[in-house]
Amino acid sequence: MEHYDVCVMGLGYIGLPTASLLATKGMRVRGVDVRPEVVDRIRHGRYDVKEPDLDVLVRSAVQSGNLEPGLEAAPADVFMIAVPTPFREGHAPDLSYVEAATASLIPFLAEGNLVILESTSPVGTTEEVERQITAARPELKGRILVAHSPERVLPGQILQELVGNDRVVGGIDAASTKAVAAFYRRFVRGEVMETTARTAEMTKLVENSYRDVNIAFANELSMICGELGISVRELIRFANQHPRVDILQPGPGVGGHCLAVDPWFIVWSDPKNARMIRTAREVNVTKSEWVFDRVVEKAERFKKPVIAVLGIAYKPDVDDTRESPSLHIAGQLRERYGADVLVVEPNLTEHPWFPLFDAEEAVSRADVVVALVSHREFKHLDRELLSARVVLDICGAFR
Ligand SMILES: NC(=O)c1ccc[n+]([C@@H]2O[C@H](COP(=O)([O-])OP(=O)(O)OC[C@H]3O[C@@H](n4cnc5c(N)ncnc54)[C@H](O)[C@@H]3O)[C@@H](O)[C@H]2O)c1
Repeated sequence: MEHYDVCVMGLGYIGLPTASLLATKGMRVRGVDVRPEVVDRIRHGRYDVKEPDLDVLVRSAVQSGNLEPGLEAAPADVFMIAVPTPFREGHAPDLSYVEAATASLIPFLAEGNLVILESTSPVGTTEEVERQITAARPELKGRILVAHSPERVLPGQILQELVGNDRVVGGIDAASTKAVAAFYRRFVRGEVMETTARTAEMTKLVENSYRDVNIAFANELSMICGELGISVRELIRFANQHPRVDILQPGPGVGGHCLAVDPWFIVWSDPKNARMIRTAREVNVTKSEWVFDRVVEKAERFKKPVIAVLGIAYKPDVDDTRESPSLHIAGQLRERYGADVLVVEPNLTEHPWFPLFDAEEAVSRADVVVALVSHREFKHLDRELLSARVVLDICGAFR
């Protein structure tokens, strides 16, 4: 059986760019995904992930012969796990994908191999991966290296950030830490900082919780200001003049695969102490409900309101709708007002829940325009067209 330098488990937003990058750096890479259609598409140089310049990278990785996509793992020096880590009912982490990926690479492991968990995970997961491996293969106890290296890239800039970002890496023991740091130093230009697996896991969770807590502050302010008749954006602009104040901008809530999920992993680990982190999550969820209520309030002024919803992605200029508060709000509005809700998402050609409209067309047909995501396309919308409508600019799209 062919031996690879690296075997990457999961070819999504993280795994595919990483596998392609490593392949173009001259490593022989086995890319594994459980979805046959994903493997087949990548073989033909195509994929689902919308990311600038990724097409060129994937094509050259596949054409060079260095990236071989497949449904099964294969022997390699390094195994990298980049599968989803969502949460279940009640916000408990769902580690079933990590467990399944680990189970499927176990038969191919050999002494001295390095297993890297890249998926964002609750503290202790890397140690669990090692336990799962050595429970199935006791002869590997103390003879394999297992480490965590959380991925911190920003969708939209993945290719630059994969190489340019600093990385925090940590093993389950000193040898694993040394090995994982040496591996990333082969292709990362940023600093590679060494620590334990547990600290590396917590670092990633804390980074996202920090953002979530700070956005929650802005979102809470926006609701208070809404009740008090104050422009929250003006307020934040003034307050930020203070040399030691830097309030973020409010929006329709917080979404995405990371910020809306990862703080729950901390809450799950220590529910007694993670009070502010939990509350921030709750505030950001409440903000979406608050926005929905404001839209309804405006719409009820009309007999048969037509509502244009601008943006359903979780943030500007991406096509990703995972955990998107805007998608949630659009869905709720469609449930209430049916086909009179015209949804616009310039980064998607279609969506399974509803038809998508051109922005100009939706706005010109609408009584109420609600801007949920400040995509660059919305900045150029005809101001005259907008001024004749009731406009709720939740995200500062028209500033
Ligand atoms: N997307 C981001 O911007 C981002 C940023 C930082 C960290 N992360 C973290 O990286 C991890 C992966 O996220 P993603 O966005 O790439 O997810 P994704 O859903 O885009 O991709 C995951 C892929 O793994 C595949 N998969 C599932 N089970 C598998 C298995 N047992 N074996 C092989 N493949 C399997 C899926 O089919 C899918 O193609 C998550 O933990 C996420 O939190 C994501």
